[in-house]
Amino acid sequence: MNYKSALQNTIFEVISKASVELNVESYVIGGFVRDLLLGRKSKKDIDIVAVGSGIELALKVSELLPKKPKVQVFKNYGTAMLRFEDTEIEFVGARKESYHFESRNPVVENGTLEDDQNRRDFTINALALSLNPNHFGDLVDPFNGVLDLETKTIKTPLDPDITYSDDPLRMMRAIRFATQLGFEIEANSIASITKNAERITIISGERIVDELNKILATEKPSIGFLLLYKTGLLDIILPELTALNQVEEIEGHTHKNNFYHTLEVVDNICPNTDDVWLRWSALLHDIGKAPTKRFNKKQGWTFHGHEFLGGKMVKKIFERLHMPLNQKMKFVQKMVMMSSRPIVLAEDIVTDSAVRRLVFDAGEDVDNLMTLCEADITTKNPTKFKKYHNNFDIVRKKIIEVEARDHVRNFQPPISGEEIMAIFNLQPSREIGVLKEAVKEAILEGEIPNEYQAAYDFVLKRAEKLGLQKVH
Ligand code: CTP
Repeated sequence: MNYKSALQNTIFEVISKASVELNVESYVIGGFVRDLLLGRKSKKDIDIVAVGSGIELALKVSELLPKKPKVQVFKNYGTAMLRFEDTEIEFVGARKESYHFESRNPVVENGTLEDDQNRRDFTINALALSLNPNHFGDLVDPFNGVLDLETKTIKTPLDPDITYSDDPLRMMRAIRFATQLGFEIEANSIASITKNAERITIISGERIVDELNKILATEKPSIGFLLLYKTGLLDIILPELTALNQVEEIEGHTHKNNFYHTLEVVDNICPNTDDVWLRWSALLHDIGKAPTKRFNKKQGWTFHGHEFLGGKMVKKIFERLHMPLNQKMKFVQKMVMMSSRPIVLAEDIVTDSAVRRLVFDAGEDVDNLMTLCEADITTKNPTKFKKYHNNFDIVRKKIIEVEARDHVRNFQPPISGEEIMAIFNLQPSREIGVLKEAVKEAILEGEIPNEYQAAYDFVLKRAEKLGLQKVH
């Protein structure tokens, strides 16, 4: 097969020319070729393998390009990278032994193209297109990668035990690709991943999270999480989630399986948000349920305080997996901590003051919280399902009404502490705090509107009870 017509980008011509000048062979390999054959939009990077020095080839390519882009050289890995237009072009020399991706001791032994293809992760990622003038665009497919693309199979070029031990992250990559592409992982690979799952512990949190994010970014992340679960990887990476996979029964009382429920919530939220942090919130929204689960005869199963504990657990997970401990983490914590609030609302009559409090506490994130909570409705009882959704519609409408009237989303007290001090000629004191809090409560309860004059009158009345005299 020849794919010359797909290699129109001038960069391929330049690489071809540079290869001739250096007397080395070169090939496009990896994701670019896979996505091309799948008719899938490729991400903006292209991998080139040179049968010779990848670094020298990159330098030569830069020399031949009119703008002579800077070449970034990673000597330890024997790789180099340059940017052409908005694409990153990675160059690597063909290797024989192990493809030690990001390993501390990369083995850089020169090899043939086939040696190199052998050491790649999957047959579908080992497809190469020749850039050599006589064969320009020819497909080189020694492991039937094309067949695996057709049959939608994730398969390693070598014995999977070898491929996965070369780089255990590939266990997660297999699952990520299966989820992204809708492919099946071949049985031998599944068995090997299951056997070697423990080896994932040598991989950095950052790289693991990168794969988790890619799984979460798909249309149906549950596919990936179920595979992670089945192979034992999830138990190692996120034991807080697998702890939810149990149903107990005491005296005829059971509770729902919160692991499968969680996966449903994650899938449910996907059509409504691409925000990976909101998707993380869906994934973690119930993690506090395993440690807080109790049984008592009166109430049956309870999970009191699971939202609060869950919020705390979020921080621990983020720390353990080297995730950002910044606003993103705070956002996920907030979502988890507030995850039951709108549900409680939707179960009951939706009052203005409850909505006002929700908006006040959630602030800017109220819409995201609503999106999370709607995804959380997984009841199989159609009457309840309809009722909850209807109530959520009411809550959403009320949020807009209440917000238009009362502006509590980014609540600023209509009367400041300084003004209250001036009215009563007070120094900073406990009374000021009490009065300010009373104003806020009165607004949230709907006793007074969120306006200056109303707040002023209210403060005067309340101050009287505290025995305070108006001075100004
Ligand atoms: N590769 C590998 N083992 C890894 C990582 C990468 O064998 N652990 C090889 C594969 O041949 C892969 C190529 O390096 O196709 C490029 O890797 P990368 O850019 O991470 O992935 P892509 O296949 O391009 O996929 P994606 O589009 O998802 O990034």
